[in-house]
Amino acid sequence: MARAGLVTVAFALLALAYLGVQWWGAEPRPAREDLPPVEHGAQIFAEHCAPCHGARGEGEVGPRLVLENKERFRGALLIGFYPMPSFEGVLTEEEIDALWAYVSSLPAP
Ligand code: HEC
Repeated sequence: MARAGLVTVAFALLALAYLGVQWWGAEPRPAREDLPPVEHGAQIFAEHCAPCHGARGEGEVGPRLVLENKERFRGALLIGFYPMPSFEGVLTEEEIDALWAYVSSLPAP
């Protein structure tokens, strides 16, 4: 009888472990778009802006980012700011919002 009980417990533990693995494995990785805007923006920045503006906007080829307001920021991105290319059609509005969230979170110089 005690043995049957042990087998039941062992089986239950195995079943739990199995379910745990299933749950863990099925956990979807968050899509980039599901990240908080600041983190999403940091990724877009690293991809599209850091080569010229430096990893944290400190300035390389491009200047240290001067951020007066979001409209000017958005305008600079859409129109382009020679030699900076226009990002119209490259970045979505949502991505520009995320970028703004990121760059405005950077420490002041
Ligand atoms: C090819 C290099 C290059 C890339 C890539 C680039 N920039 Fe620039 N950016 C520049 C340069 C150079 C200037 C300064 C132009 C000037 O002052 O005439 C500038 C200016 C700016 C300005 C200032 C506009 C203002 O209001 O004075 C902002 C904001 C800006 N960039 C944001 C970005 C963001 C965000 C990205 C990524 C989506 C990006 N840039 C990608 C080179 C680049």
